[in-house]
Amino acid sequence: MGSLLVDDIGELVTNVAGTGDGGPLGLRRDAAVLIEDGRVAWVGPARYAPAADRRIDAQGGAVLPGFVDSHAHLVFAGDRAAEFAARMAGEPYTGGGIRTTVGATRAASDGQLRATVRRLVGEAMRQGTTTIETKSGYGLTVADEARSLRIAAEVTGETTFLGAHVVPAEYAGRPDDYVGLVCGPMLAAAAPYARWVDVFCERGAFDADHARAILTVGQAAGLGVRLHANQLGPGPGVQLGVELGAASVDHCTHLSDADVDALAGSTTVATLLPGAEFSTRSPYPDARRLLDAGVTVALATDCNPGSSYTSSMPFCVALAVREMRMTPAEAVWAATAGGARALRRDDVGVLRPGARADLIVLDAPSHLHLAYRPGVPLISQVLHNGVPQCRS
Ligand code: NIG
Ligand code: FE
Repeated sequence: MGSLLVDDIGELVTNVAGTGDGGPLGLRRDAAVLIEDGRVAWVGPARYAPAADRRIDAQGGAVLPGFVDSHAHLVFAGDRAAEFAARMAGEPYTGGGIRTTVGATRAASDGQLRATVRRLVGEAMRQGTTTIETKSGYGLTVADEARSLRIAAEVTGETTFLGAHVVPAEYAGRPDDYVGLVCGPMLAAAAPYARWVDVFCERGAFDADHARAILTVGQAAGLGVRLHANQLGPGPGVQLGVELGAASVDHCTHLSDADVDALAGSTTVATLLPGAEFSTRSPYPDARRLLDAGVTVALATDCNPGSSYTSSMPFCVALAVREMRMTPAEAVWAATAGGARALRRDDVGVLRPGARADLIVLDAPSHLHLAYRPGVPLISQVLHNGVPQCRS
């Protein structure tokens, strides 16, 4: 493969706290990055850069770690554009549309599902995402959940079993029976393809007892815990996640003081998904309250056909800054290092020797422009495992 030097960098975001400008982003000027064998081999002042076989000229643009999108639902068929239009005309979001996507997903071929997953991963990559998590949850039979995860595992190691997304129509009125299926044969079929287990813990989906049962057997099967919590209203999800040592609790839109305190005293990340509030026209979570309490915050897209059909991390960064009172630096950190924390990864979301050489070059001089220039395609180059992916 040979070595590759990225230089003429206007501003380098390393996320190595305390280095460079001394802040959490570890900002450096006049820096260069050497890549060997898909890993960062060296970071330092450009004038001391080692010789390399090839060179990428960032042309004065900012260079950042690739985005880590720690929450997406990419395995589905069909779309729900009409449901979106109805919401924009005043209908509320209830999550009831999930069953529409379940019907379409069950009817789709493996090839159709694979094509959608690959299209969305490519779309995300062109917008700077180099690590993406994806969940099952639109199959809701043993066979359909297992195949959703098998297809997801072809494109990412960050796969999550979400058999407990909603109770499917054929189990209406029998949630205990469905939870039994999820905890038994469905988990057994899904676990070989999954790293994580997740539950939609919400009124109308699964209560705390069901969620605890599913997450506990998932943990016993070797899966890490994450969960959808406190999205549509207050509830027990966040505190349950902390109790079980979840890597992340996601949404966190409706939090009590006790929820914030529990998160602040834990290693559980609060993953905020502003695309969902945007697309459901709902109040945004209060990121400032979490950050000021010392909670680790991640940003992710929640890409799915119902509540948030965006694959764009730059869009989420801009929303977080404008609507959730995050500073641009906090939002960029949350979309890179924060996502890595939410996936319990230390090899991504950071640019230091030994890290995966996943980095993006902006057609802009600093990270500030991601929020300052919303909707503008600023990602000019993406390197994944040290390999240039695309130019937009
Ligand atoms: O994260 N909250 C549950 N699941 C998805 C929505 C899925 C859908 O509406 O299809 C979410 O927002
Ligand atoms: Fe989600």
